[in-house]
Amino acid sequence: MTDVAPARDHTEVLPRSVRHDFPILRQTFNGYPLTYLDNAATTQKPQAVLDAITDYYATANSNVGRGYYQLSMRSTDRYEQARAVVQRAVNAEHPDEIVFTAGTTAAVNLLADTFGRKHVGCGDEVVVTGMEHNSNTLPWRRLAEQSGARLVVVPVSENGSVDIDTFTSVLGPRVRLVAVSHVSNVLGTVNPVREMIAEAHRRDVRVVVDGAQAIAHRTVDVRDLDADFYCFSGHKVYGPLGVGVLYGKREILAELPPYQVGGGTVKGVTFTAPVSYVPTPARLEAGTPHMAGAVGLAAALRYLDGLGRDAVSAHQEMLVRQAVDALNTLDGVRVVGDPASAPNGIVSFVVDGIHPYDVGGHLDQHGIAVRSGVHCASTFLDSMDLVGTVRMSFAVYNTSDEIELVRRALETLRPGPWTKDRPTTRFL
Ligand code: ALA
Repeated sequence: MTDVAPARDHTEVLPRSVRHDFPILRQTFNGYPLTYLDNAATTQKPQAVLDAITDYYATANSNVGRGYYQLSMRSTDRYEQARAVVQRAVNAEHPDEIVFTAGTTAAVNLLADTFGRKHVGCGDEVVVTGMEHNSNTLPWRRLAEQSGARLVVVPVSENGSVDIDTFTSVLGPRVRLVAVSHVSNVLGTVNPVREMIAEAHRRDVRVVVDGAQAIAHRTVDVRDLDADFYCFSGHKVYGPLGVGVLYGKREILAELPPYQVGGGTVKGVTFTAPVSYVPTPARLEAGTPHMAGAVGLAAALRYLDGLGRDAVSAHQEMLVRQAVDALNTLDGVRVVGDPASAPNGIVSFVVDGIHPYDVGGHLDQHGIAVRSGVHCASTFLDSMDLVGTVRMSFAVYNTSDEIELVRRALETLRPGPWTKDRPTTRFL
């Protein structure tokens, strides 16, 4: 037994009835009720979201902004109402600062291909941190390779966070852009993005925040952060797959060139005269948008409001603290980083001498779904000299009992095929 921290309050904040809002959780695996702890990969959808999507298709489906008939106007209204819901959820000043994308990855790629191509040139620098998800490094790396710019990586400190002084020290005269995650998808660490943005702005540098792991756990206020851009995915906040959000300050979005060009982006077009594009956000939403996705995302954000954003955060914080306490009672189990210091719904751990995939496979036998591996952030895992971690990530429907199930299952863990045959292999 390792030292056990002083007892903390593990009283659940949200009622257990929340679980009944999510039909998928009624399933069993190997005779166990589904314990879904892979919410950082994707969250499950409440009935309210499923209903909103069905209702959209049943009563409003038609193309937006492209039909002079009532059904099309209804669809357009629903889509724009969804934009306004997102605007309020992140406290953006104007609805036209919300661009619907296919997800966080699509939003970051959009920025690299528009803002990046416009403002980053040969010899310039783009700053990322060592904890970024591939989706917030690869678009910038490709931009750097194509433009002759340099990718500067801020090292992550021992406790898994970015130190503001280390960050500030890399902000030289050639830096044109900073791209940073609000919350690490591997450790749940919260970056000091407000301070980072203030330092970058002092040097006239714009900042992109990858909010994929923050949006479901904390209240995001883009104006308080003073973020230039903030990106997130609908599916990580109880909304549908295939829809995401790029927030951008109105004046910065206004000067972005189109990304993909096509239907919905132009005022008028001939085969020869210069093309005249419509203003953002439509200019950045070429083609038929994912209207049902936007409507479903709005329903998800309303659902969270109904639960109470503070209660949602407090519930997940409690689960993180309970999970850390539970893991600390187990021999050979080590929590990576310090998730309890600023809980964000994620706890990563390793087990001495046992491959993370064997841990994931063993938990699966008990109906417990966790992610194990490198979490699309192999560079971060490399920097910690780890083959991978096992990641539990929590949502509004998780309970204390589920953490106790994990603890009990880990007591019977034994090395499996990965540990025996491929101890250093990783692919997920
Ligand atoms: N980005 C998702 C994760 O971290 C897929 O699991």
